[in-house]
Amino acid sequence: MGTKLYNARQFNLSNLKGISDETLEMHFKLYEGYVKETNKLNEKIADFVKDAKVDQDEFAEYSELTRRLGFEYNGMVLHEYYFDNLKSGGSIGDPNNKSIFRQAAEQSFGSYDIWKADFVGIGKMRGVGWAICYENPTNGALSNHWITLHETGNVAGFNPVLVMDVWEHAFILDYKPADRPKYIEAFFSNIDWDICERRLSKQRAQPIAA
Ligand SMILES: [Fe+2]
Repeated sequence: MGTKLYNARQFNLSNLKGISDETLEMHFKLYEGYVKETNKLNEKIADFVKDAKVDQDEFAEYSELTRRLGFEYNGMVLHEYYFDNLKSGGSIGDPNNKSIFRQAAEQSFGSYDIWKADFVGIGKMRGVGWAICYENPTNGALSNHWITLHETGNVAGFNPVLVMDVWEHAFILDYKPADRPKYIEAFFSNIDWDICERRLSKQRAQPIAA
């Protein structure tokens, strides 16, 4: 009984192209912080409700903790997507012509290059957050989104297919803050497209509904 605890996952991600092992080490620590905070919040909230009511004098604190769930949960989960869609040793860069992801991008954006211009453009947006390519599981359409912090802008029910952290901590040891475009280029040279394609829904072979 009690609250389900999350365990921080381990990621084997050495020798990325243009993203140092030092950056990753620091980033893993930050990620572990989100796992810890998610667990802590869940435990505290469970404590408030364990007598099957929320007392009036507890309500302010209960509300504040509950509001923080979106930040901590998404901070945990988005980092897992991000680390998972990177490939140790680096990758081929853009997906090859036969790739399912490329086809999905073409169907949704007209061409892979247009999809990429949008995704990279979002990654360069001023502010602290994420660029995420989502798939709408009801029709297979891809769309790119800016997420402020970890929680504002995620689309309920959509599948994250490609997740890029553009908080400065993701690159500050390797690039200056103004050089975010160089980090984005490095990110692209490490994308594990096999993982991204596995995230696409199973009915991917079908054309996108009009
Ligand atoms: Fe991060």
